[in-house]
Amino acid sequence: MEQNKQRKQSKENKEIQEIVKKQIRQPIVTVVGHVDHGKTSLLDSLRDSCVAQGEAGGITQKISFTSYPMSQLKAACPLIDKQGIKLDIPGFLLIDTPGHAAFTNLRKRGGSLADLAVLVVDINDGIKPQTAEVIQILKLNKTPFIIALNKIDNISGWNKKQGNIKELIETLPINVRQQFDEKLLTFIGSLHSHGFEADLFYNINDFTKKISIIPCSAKTKQGIQELIMILCGLSQKYLEKKLELSNQAKGVVLEIKKGKSISYAECILYDGILNKKDKIVIANFLKPEQPVVSSIRILEEVMPLCDKFKPVEKATASTGLRLQLIEKADILPGMPFIRYDGTEENKKQILEEFKKIISENIKTDKQGIIAKADSLGSLEALITLLKEANISILKAGIGSINKSDIISAKANLNINELDAIVVGFNVSIDEDAAELIKSEQRIKIIIEQVIYKLIENLVEYRKEKTSEIEKSRLMELATICKLEILSQYVFRNSNPAVFGVKVLGGKLTQNLPLITNLNERMSRIKNIQSNNKPVNEAFESMEVAVSLPGINFERRIKNTNIKFLYSDISESQFKKFKKNRDLLSSNEKTILQEIAEIKRKEKADWGS
Ligand code: GTP
Ligand code: MG
Repeated sequence: MEQNKQRKQSKENKEIQEIVKKQIRQPIVTVVGHVDHGKTSLLDSLRDSCVAQGEAGGITQKISFTSYPMSQLKAACPLIDKQGIKLDIPGFLLIDTPGHAAFTNLRKRGGSLADLAVLVVDINDGIKPQTAEVIQILKLNKTPFIIALNKIDNISGWNKKQGNIKELIETLPINVRQQFDEKLLTFIGSLHSHGFEADLFYNINDFTKKISIIPCSAKTKQGIQELIMILCGLSQKYLEKKLELSNQAKGVVLEIKKGKSISYAECILYDGILNKKDKIVIANFLKPEQPVVSSIRILEEVMPLCDKFKPVEKATASTGLRLQLIEKADILPGMPFIRYDGTEENKKQILEEFKKIISENIKTDKQGIIAKADSLGSLEALITLLKEANISILKAGIGSINKSDIISAKANLNINELDAIVVGFNVSIDEDAAELIKSEQRIKIIIEQVIYKLIENLVEYRKEKTSEIEKSRLMELATICKLEILSQYVFRNSNPAVFGVKVLGGKLTQNLPLITNLNERMSRIKNIQSNNKPVNEAFESMEVAVSLPGINFERRIKNTNIKFLYSDISESQFKKFKKNRDLLSSNEKTILQEIAEIKRKEKADWGS
């Protein structure tokens, strides 16, 4: 039985190898660049949709894909046929990536998936931090790229006429042309300092030596045809070998879409062929040692130029997929998968890949807050931003905020109240978790759809909480107190001395360290009695009896100039009080000043 199964399996594997030999896959074209430079808008204008307008906060926070078949490319770009460009590639799989600073790991992943990249740069902004970052990623991955020098329409006086971009630039009014040239040259110069030679695409003879710059506008669509043309030309000429399909279907999960009863995994298949009857082995975030092997219930492929899917029997890379799996395991975004050929080797391969991703990107601390996000990429981004804001993370996970997250946050209440926080990026909160918080108001939950808002809110909350905690700690640590010694009421001379005092201001507490108005240290208050009953504290204008061990009243106090006792406040406590003086009553402020005066005699800079 087992042998038959294996024979059948190896026959199927051979068949796939045969099919694969002849095929070229769609190149994956990743669109990268600094935040707001127009990546999503550029893709929108390529595929004629309006994704950018519908995004939360107007920024892209995940990777998404669009399949652009050659027939449509040719229709959208008559230049391809006009210029006689011969094309064998079946089209492009376009990938949009986030430009926001936090998404380095998503960019890295997008960058490493890319056969080709389009670096989008706002001509008026030039090279910005994330532009420089993606340049490094492209360099590292040796990904060929072209540059869409976007937003040319923002140059003042720009001619919005449609047509050939070269002619358009050459016929610009002189002052507009000057502005354009200046911006272009500055950009080429700064690109040079990053180690790249670039020029306008129509000035380049050898595309392997220089990087093409295509001036364009996602808004007016000027230069878009030229952009497509250059992409096609470069893919055909330089990528063909790289684009041969291998016999191992490989992919990565981008997102999990949860329906009413079923959930789908949106994935990119970046190599090989995946059949509906295949099994896949996929990394298991929660139990990494046990990668999940699953059959495919429904295999759907993305339809051209939209985000709709249609069921297929087989899908060929590179393409976007929607998978419904038989196995009910927790499959999470960011996880790699491969077609399962029935061997243990397969599982090991996935485990290795997974370990690499996790150890590189998810590092937590011994103490800190709890962070949840909806995908591996967004969790990585969240962790990056939290670390930048110097906020430690105890637990980081993917999925909705659950009971165990709340329990961890609750445990933090005993360690550091500032860490009794659960932040959720793009996630919801489970019902039983929400129930649990009701009984513990001190746990803070912050959920946001936009990552920088989440960080802003968290930082703001921690700031408020810090000052709240500091204030209460300040009042706990040291108490301001002034006592008048009532020499007529001495109940016991020594061991301990017990005598009457009147609280002139502040608060008298047990264990309060004391100094005299002559700056002599006394022992700490042991007990306080009011009307013959022990009390823990006494307030302004109360007359109470206090006991002071180690003091002989007659020798130390009687017939001296010691008339008042003050709480002994250290220099640093004094400074804290001074910083938070708004919290003090005017009487307390006066007493504090008196203590400072007394202490100043001891140390010149005290209280200054
Ligand atoms: P992230 O996904 O956040 O990294 O941003 P992005 O690079 O995808 O930028 P997006 O496409 O969201 O565009 C940012 C803003 O620039 C939007 O308000 C767009 O309307 C505007 N924009 C994009 N391209 C152009 C252009 O060619 N001309 C003009 N005038 N505005 C543009
Ligand atoms: Mg975007």
